[in-house]
Amino acid sequence: MAPKNYQLTDSATGKTSDLPVRSGTIGPDVLDVATLYRDHGVFTFDPGFGVTAACESRITYIDGDEGVLLYRGYPVEQLAEKSSFMEVSYLLLHGELPARKDLDIFVSNIRHHTMINETLLRFFNGFHHNAHPMAMVSAVVASMSAFYHDSMDINNPRHREIFAHRIIAKIPTIAAAAHKHSLGQPFVYPRNDLDYCSNLLHMFFAVPCAPYRVDPIYAQALDLLFILHADHEQNASTSTVRLAGSTGANPYAAISAGVSASGGPAHGGANEAVLEMLEEIGTADNIPKYVAMAKDKSSHFRLMGFGHRVYKNFDPRARLIREMCHKVLAKLGRSDNPLFELALRLEEVALKDEYFVARKLYPNVDFYSGIIYSALGIPRSMFTVMFALARTVGWVAHWQEMIADPAMRISRPRQLYSGPKRRDYTDIAGRA
Ligand code: CMC
Repeated sequence: MAPKNYQLTDSATGKTSDLPVRSGTIGPDVLDVATLYRDHGVFTFDPGFGVTAACESRITYIDGDEGVLLYRGYPVEQLAEKSSFMEVSYLLLHGELPARKDLDIFVSNIRHHTMINETLLRFFNGFHHNAHPMAMVSAVVASMSAFYHDSMDINNPRHREIFAHRIIAKIPTIAAAAHKHSLGQPFVYPRNDLDYCSNLLHMFFAVPCAPYRVDPIYAQALDLLFILHADHEQNASTSTVRLAGSTGANPYAAISAGVSASGGPAHGGANEAVLEMLEEIGTADNIPKYVAMAKDKSSHFRLMGFGHRVYKNFDPRARLIREMCHKVLAKLGRSDNPLFELALRLEEVALKDEYFVARKLYPNVDFYSGIIYSALGIPRSMFTVMFALARTVGWVAHWQEMIADPAMRISRPRQLYSGPKRRDYTDIAGRA
């Protein structure tokens, strides 16, 4: 078959050129516009990157119309059912599911990097007790570059690997330290005999004065949530990591930029906003009022946890988390959870409403995740930290992919300038 291309004609000059089409393994083809400025003197304009592929990637694929999410080709539903967060992390980083021996080595590497430098730990004392944990986590992650000089040559593959192990191992320790600082409790050191999620729960909930036993149901629920949050292709925070990393900035700076970007309510911060919204709605009687507000363009209110740039169908993660809510709440003996009941009812009402149907607005991953985090005893201000913690694996995989690509160059978007044309400086005495 002849290579596909699109012909572009400048209606003013009649000049034409062929824009080549590039095909991936699945998904829409992309139009290669790299020669557009050279041949026609124009840029493309796509605010919010609605139809712009900023890079080529082999990590994650989403079909938003069908509600499909694949990590390295594997459906997220299968990984959620059969895999573990550590195995998924290996898959995202290395491209293939690990053999038993490789998984054991990977897990051991992560377990042996869990402690953070004591000086770094003391940074937390500099934060006010009511600082948002995301502020602490992004600052401490950025500060890691001041400690781990021995492995920060981004052009050295071994250094990149050590960085990956360090950040994935230490981010739970940093998250837990932020939590303990908020509570005014002593920091709890990691335990390398525990698996990733059990260790996180231990650092969150243990206190020096009493024994603490990790409930395996809690650890399993967390592991599943982390699998579902681990990557989501070129979302805002991942694109931020890529953009910051494309400058050659150290990888801790790039991940810290990702943590900061993920905090907004349109992105990872939505899980916190969903619970606030459900509490504000209060009872099912108030649902019509809030749905009407969400539809009213003069109000800033949106149904948090609803809608997605890519999914125009059910977010597959939302379905899995909703199922998990039923199971986890039942196992914890809290099936009569009023916020979950309210969320189910709100979903039902919105999915029948013409406004949401016409715009293909469905529950997204964040609609139900906060309900599980709450049931596990994780405070609301930590929800977005949980998102960032799990997404760190995806950020690292994308950063690694980008840095290892010989064609990588600094990301530098162009603009449509609509400010004043060139004008001459006027002396202050002559200004109106
Ligand atoms: N409630 C009410 N109306 C909405 C909502 C909502 N949650 N989401 C989108 N719309 C409307 C929007 O007003 C617009 O209407 P119209 O065509 O009449 O102007 C239409 O639907 C298209 O929305 P958009 O804002 O152009 O879509 P977007 O792709 O720019 O934004 C979004 C996607 C996720 C930011 C948005 O749906 C939203 O703000 N949702 C609530 C926040 C949320 O749950 N975020 C988590 C996203 S999933 C996790 C993650 O990415 O981290």
